[in-house]
Amino acid sequence: MSDQKPVLLSGVKPSGEPHIGNYFGALRQQVELFESGGYRCFIMVADYHALNTVQNAGEMRTCIYDLVMTYLAIGLDPKKVVLFKQSDVPAHTELAWIFDSITTMPYLMRAHAFKDAEAKNKEISVGTFNYPMLMAADILLYDATIVPVGADQKQHIEIARDTAEKFNHIFKDDVFRLPEPYIASDVAVVPGTDGQKMSKSYNNVIPLFASREEIAKRVMNIVTDSSGGRPEHVYAIHKLVRSEEELVPIYEKHQGQYKVLKEMLIEDLDRYLAPMRVRYAGLRSELGIVEDILAKGAEEARAVSERKMERVKRVIGVTF
Ligand code: ADP
Ligand code: TRP
Repeated sequence: MSDQKPVLLSGVKPSGEPHIGNYFGALRQQVELFESGGYRCFIMVADYHALNTVQNAGEMRTCIYDLVMTYLAIGLDPKKVVLFKQSDVPAHTELAWIFDSITTMPYLMRAHAFKDAEAKNKEISVGTFNYPMLMAADILLYDATIVPVGADQKQHIEIARDTAEKFNHIFKDDVFRLPEPYIASDVAVVPGTDGQKMSKSYNNVIPLFASREEIAKRVMNIVTDSSGGRPEHVYAIHKLVRSEEELVPIYEKHQGQYKVLKEMLIEDLDRYLAPMRVRYAGLRSELGIVEDILAKGAEEARAVSERKMERVKRVIGVTF
């Protein structure tokens, strides 16, 4: 692993069973960019971010294991990627505090996630409000230049950029590099079985490691309108696993035959997902490797982030 390569950093919250929206919207890009060999990759289990919603020790542990195994099953090589969890690297929360101190409340009140929660009249934890500051710390500690994420995370990357600029400006030193989001435009948002964004909160997902029977059940539930044309939600999922060139004539030939099209989708999804499902099942019998991988990742991530924190602390004047 060369230090000269540009840094890629990304992460996902360990907050439940991964679904194909997570995979096509975010995880796949992370693995593809890793496989390109062009980046020094840091992949983070964002457990402190998950703490806003996962507040049960057993559930948190299970979700962390599942997420690490998901990354392994979809093709990340822990020997070549620094795979770590946020809570093992104290610099993240430490830097987040520093960012809190230079950021105003009105600025953070413009964040979509906060506005959505407010519009729904939800009780908002301070952690949810500050979420973008911790995420900015995650990214900026490693001088990440590229941050592959799903479309809904774009604003968080913009906030990280603004925060880097603001810090550099206030303390008159180019401590932080400005990151760029990387969003696969063709799969910006994967629809769920009800046509809304696929999300574990909407109970409309197709799990990434679903058995064939499970896939069949969920696909058969995809809502279709009765216009007799192309079933858009079925098509939108289908084009994730098969080229549009092949699909357009098939959907034209079978216009209005929803059952036939859904059966084809089941077949194609199953073929696409099966190898990952098999790898995932194999890993379940080797849970011990997860701890070893995370311990090694934490050590590497701490080494890099501590170097950055030394500089930050000198620049703000708390270290002489
Ligand atoms: P969920 O909405 O199920 O809670 P998360 O918020 O944990 O999912 O998202 C994890 C990652 O997967 C994020 O980078 C997010 O952008 C991406 N993602 C989640 N749902 C979708 C979707 N339906 N389409 C595209 N990307 C998605
Ligand atoms: N907020 C991201 C999500 O919900 C997860 C995340 C936390 C992340 N820290 C990050 C993503 C840093 C990229 C970079 O999916």
